[in-house]
Order: sequence, then structure tokens, then C-alpha cells
Amino acid sequence: MPHALAVDDDPNFLSALAELIEGQGFTTNTACTLRDARAQVSHRTPDVALVDLYLPDGSGIDLLKDLELGAATEVVLMTGHADVESAVQALRLGASDYLTKPLDIGRLKSILANVASVQPAAQGAQAQTAEPQEVGRLGLLLGASPPMQALYEMLNRVAPTDASVFLVGESGTGKDLAAQTLHMLSRRSRAPFLPLNCGAISPTLIESELFGHERGSFTGAARRHKGYFERAHTGTLFLDEISEMPIELQVKLLRVLETGEVVRIGGDQAAPVDVRVIAATNRDPQKAVNEGKLREDLLYRLQVFPIHMPPLRERGDDVQLLADYFLGQLNERQGTDKVFTEDSLDRLRTHSWPGNVRELKNVVHRAFIMADHEITPRCLPREVGGDFGSVRSLNFQVGTSIEEVERRLIMATLDAHGGNKRKTADILGVSLKTLYNRLNTYREP
Ligand SMILES: Nc1ncnc2c1ncn2[C@@H]1O[C@H](COP(=O)(O)OP(=O)(O)O)[C@@H](O)[C@H]1O
Ligand SMILES: [Mg+2]
Repeated sequence: MPHALAVDDDPNFLSALAELIEGQGFTTNTACTLRDARAQVSHRTPDVALVDLYLPDGSGIDLLKDLELGAATEVVLMTGHADVESAVQALRLGASDYLTKPLDIGRLKSILANVASVQPAAQGAQAQTAEPQEVGRLGLLLGASPPMQALYEMLNRVAPTDASVFLVGESGTGKDLAAQTLHMLSRRSRAPFLPLNCGAISPTLIESELFGHERGSFTGAARRHKGYFERAHTGTLFLDEISEMPIELQVKLLRVLETGEVVRIGGDQAAPVDVRVIAATNRDPQKAVNEGKLREDLLYRLQVFPIHMPPLRERGDDVQLLADYFLGQLNERQGTDKVFTEDSLDRLRTHSWPGNVRELKNVVHRAFIMADHEITPRCLPREVGGDFGSVRSLNFQVGTSIEEVERRLIMATLDAHGGNKRKTADILGVSLKTLYNRLNTYREP
């Protein structure tokens, strides 16, 4: 049976809490002071410790720092004051989560259920190093390189909290996937995850999209409209390309983050919203501030948890791991077993990948289409050090489907003519529309 330790200086609260924890199938000890707590820990290491932040003889954080509470104990801080600063500090020091009082019982139960569920596995695997996740993947993200391991650790730590997260990284490094992964790993995973690309929507519409509007609040506002914040209630809102958001709106956004309330355009009532915000940018945030594209106060608010997405060129062997993965997916989908030649892999490994994982995925997809069985450098585009585009003839095995022959012929012709679709259609003797239709079906699903 898993073991819990509850630490709080309020005896009534403590006994109610202990009862609740026991009801979840834990043996439970209690302590009213840091000193008591330390004595309990030395007696028996708990699997989970729920610790009040303010104790008569010190801070719950001190207990967290104690060596006795090693990786074996999940520490959850409880705080009566909405003291997010200390909670965030606690998370940085290794706390698994924090709860604000009055406790959200549902959330407490789900934390306990998590602890209980990893129990038997953790015991069975004690000989191995305590690895919180399967090496080489976290949620939707793949990659086993050291920068990715560091990223997983950050994501794991911050996911269960409600802290805003700021994802900073070049285009194609996986910011979207990281945001979804954070949501999946959070207690909000069953509530909506709503992405909004601030760069892709007209600045005049962002405000009402985000905050909603009341009927008749502006010309065209025929009906009352709920904004993203309200629709994402209890879930996660992903604000991509945040520096593209008009600066006046950034003020409003900051206010929502600070008060937890939104006011619809044309409305006068504030509605409370429980939304976790994840923002992302592919710019250097400080530079965006200097250029007046991003408000400094908003940056500070988001910066509580800045997360840097490593570019692919710093991820070593991940290039091959990802290339194999993408190829495997395509093979599975098409019922083929195409393979990279060593030559091709060498070229993939030495390319600098300015477009990061997105570029790699596209390259693999095109190479897959072009290849017979082996993916040779002839299937790779020139930017990647391949010979694609210079291909003057194609080879097919007898038994290749017409569909595949057609696909490879179209791609090779297109590439031989620098991507010019009109010319390609002419040469192939099909209409431009037919060509577009075909190319659409080749796209990644
Ligand atoms: N670590 C990764 N593992 C698997 N696929 C990835 C990874 N990073 C990015 N991708 C893929 O690369 C493409 C771009 O990722 P995305 O998250 O949209 O990047 P960004 O938002 O940073 O531009 C997507 O198709 C995504 O599935
Ligand atoms: Mg993106």
C-alpha cells in the first residue's frame, strides 16, 4: 500500500486531510511541524508528501530540500495564500505540484491516484535508474538527445501546474507538439485545448476572438459570442506567435492572466475563467520587447516558465531517430518497407536543418514518394545535399502500382522544373487543376 505524509499546523484540517488520503488507499502519517515531519520521514519514506508552505518552524520548501526526500517522494506543496511565487520556486526545487487552499478535492484525488498508479511499477523497477519517462519520447514529442531529455524534464515538472508557459524556439522545432503535450500531461487533459495563432488572424478580429463580445457591441456583432478564453474554460489556451498580437491587446491579456476574469467586448460584467495559458514565439523575446512588439510586463508574466525548444541541428542522433520514425509511419500507412541507404543517412545527418523537424518530415515524405525500395541520395533534394531535381530518368520495379509510378513521375517532373506547376502540367499533358488535385493527395494527412 502506498504511504503518505500530511504536514500542516492546523490539526482540524490535518485530520480531515488524513482521512481523505486514507480513503484513497494510502497509509497516512501526519505532522504539525517541520521537526515532526523530519522525524516521520526518517522513520518511513512516504511515496507522497502533502506539505503546507507555512509551518511554525519553517517553510515546507525546507522539507523539500531535505535529502531524505529524494526522488522517491512526490512532494505537493499546499498554500493558503495565493502565493504563486513560492509555489513556482517550489516546483523549480523539485516539488511535483502545488495545491491552493481550500483544496480542490477532485484535483487532490487525481494527484493521489497518479502516485498510487506508478507504485507497483516503480517498486518492480527499483534496480533501474529512476527514469520518469520512456527515454526518447514524452507525450507527442520524440527525441532522445540530451537537449530533449532536459526539455522533457522541464515539461514534466511544469505540466501538472497551472503556471503559464512560454515556448521559445525556431519554426518547426515542435512548439505546437510541446503545447499539446503539456496539456495532455496536465489535470486539464480532458478539457479543451484551444490553439490560436495570433499571426494568422486579423488584428481587428483577435480581440473578439479572445474575449468574446456582447450582441451589438460593434457593427457586425449580431449575436453574443463567446471568446476563446470562455470556451477554453478549465482547459488550456495556446497562443501561438504571441508577439504578433496587437500591443493594446497584450495589455488586456495581461489583465486577464492576473485577475482570472474576462470582460466581453461591449459588456460590463467580468466572468471568471479558469484557463491555463501557453504562449509561443519563434522570435527572440527580448528583441521583440526592444522592437516594441511584445510588452515587457507580459513577457515577465509569461516568463515564469520559459521553455527553450532545441533546434534540430543541436540534437545529434535525433535526426536519424526522427527520419526512421517518419519513414516507418509512411511504410506502415502504405504497406511498404522502404529503407534509407547509408549514403542518404549521412547527408541527412550533416544537413543543418534551418526548418528543423518540419523540414525533415517533408524531406522524408518526398524521398519516400521518389524511392523505389531504397532511399538513395537521388531521392533527396539538393538543399539537403541530395541529387533530387537533377533526376533525368526513373526506375520502377515491375509490379509497381500505376498510382505510385504516377506520383513519382509527377514529383520528378515538378522538381526538374524548379517547382513550376504550369510547366509541369503542360509537359505531363494534364490540366493544372488535375496536377493540383494530385499534389493535394500526396500531402501529409
Ligand atoms: N520532437 C518531435 N517529434 C516528432 N515530431 C515532431 C517533433 N517536433 C516537431 N515535429 C513535427 O514537425 C512538424 C512541426 O512541428 P510544430 O510543433 O508545428 O513546430 P512549431 O510549432 O515549432 O513550428 C509537425 O509535423 C510535428 O508533428
Ligand atoms: Mg507552430
